[in-house]
Amino acid sequence: MHRKIHELAHPWVRELRVYEPGRPIEEVARELGFADAEEIIKLASNENALGPSPKAQAAMRRAVRQMHLYPDGGAFYLRRALARKLGVEMDQIMVGHGSNEIIALLGQAFLSHTSNIVMADGAFVVYRLVADAFRARTLAVPMKNFTHDLEAMLAAITPETKLVFLANPNNPTGTMVGGAAIERFMARVPPHVAVIFDEAYIELLPPDRQPDTLRYVREGRHAFVLRTFSKTYGLAGLRIGYAVGPREGCELLNKVRQPFNVNAMALAAAEAALGDDAFVARTRRAVAAGLRQIERGCQKLGLDFVPSVVNFMLIKTGRGRAVCQALEREKTIVRPVDGYGLPDYIRVTVGTRAENTHFLKALGRILAQTVSK
Ligand SMILES: Cc1ncc(COP(=O)(O)O)c(C=O)c1O
Repeated sequence: MHRKIHELAHPWVRELRVYEPGRPIEEVARELGFADAEEIIKLASNENALGPSPKAQAAMRRAVRQMHLYPDGGAFYLRRALARKLGVEMDQIMVGHGSNEIIALLGQAFLSHTSNIVMADGAFVVYRLVADAFRARTLAVPMKNFTHDLEAMLAAITPETKLVFLANPNNPTGTMVGGAAIERFMARVPPHVAVIFDEAYIELLPPDRQPDTLRYVREGRHAFVLRTFSKTYGLAGLRIGYAVGPREGCELLNKVRQPFNVNAMALAAAEAALGDDAFVARTRRAVAAGLRQIERGCQKLGLDFVPSVVNFMLIKTGRGRAVCQALEREKTIVRPVDGYGLPDYIRVTVGTRAENTHFLKALGRILAQTVSK
């Protein structure tokens, strides 16, 4: 009997939604018939406008000659460097193909149709997509003022909850909760759940503003801290991130990952980037200046925005998706956030000074046209 391929698949897989990433420059250039893709500015995926860490670039050039060899599947040198920097043990670290892979591995290791996750309704959507993929329920807790409501999240935990996700700072809102609120939360979170602190943007903050979540791992709590080289270190294209968590927790994640989940170029670059303090400092300064520039631009245009602590910002333009499309015609790619229940907003990543200026001018033109129509 002939059956269509999708009839062979798990029924719930057929229903899965697909993640909508920031649109690649080449795709927009092809679609809109722009001959020169280099003129297009991408402010859609919270990448680092300064490019990759220079130390990482040098390490990649050195690593090229070794690309005929498989990578070190155990990521020994990177884990050793991370352990020294973060003050944890090497076996409390596992390395992934971006922190995205680690979120999926958490799903594989912990979730099933009998469990649920707790997250904020305006938090990074990948948690929900991963829960769906493993047929777990998502208990989405409303945010307060675009910020995680930790009290409400505590109240949402049920006996079936396995993972509680806290994106801190959060994407797409750019907001964060501080160390004291986290401390109160951790004092009351029940022991049957694991708390996932997704800190993809944490290095953009000065060290004294970074909540010390690693201490929960050191104290033996059920907590994982996820970090990435995609943002502050400028290595999104390489796909490398890591989790710091309980030894046995990392062991579980290592069991479900592929043997060579992280490539050798990424390992070399990440280790070098970790020592590039000057680049991190430069990135922080550039992001702070860029945020101020975009905030001032919004004020001039009379637009509300959600004050952000990281390298992207929600702006209330009205008709967000239409504004994104209009901006693409102005050679600027930003992100619609209607999928997060914010149809009136766009999310823009902080670019270079020139890119921010281009974006603000284009936005001003688009909004003036809409008003005059
Ligand atoms: C909150 C958050 N977590 C995780 C990720 C995934 O990052 P990566 O897979 O590049 O490490 C992102 C990327 O946008 C993010 O915003």
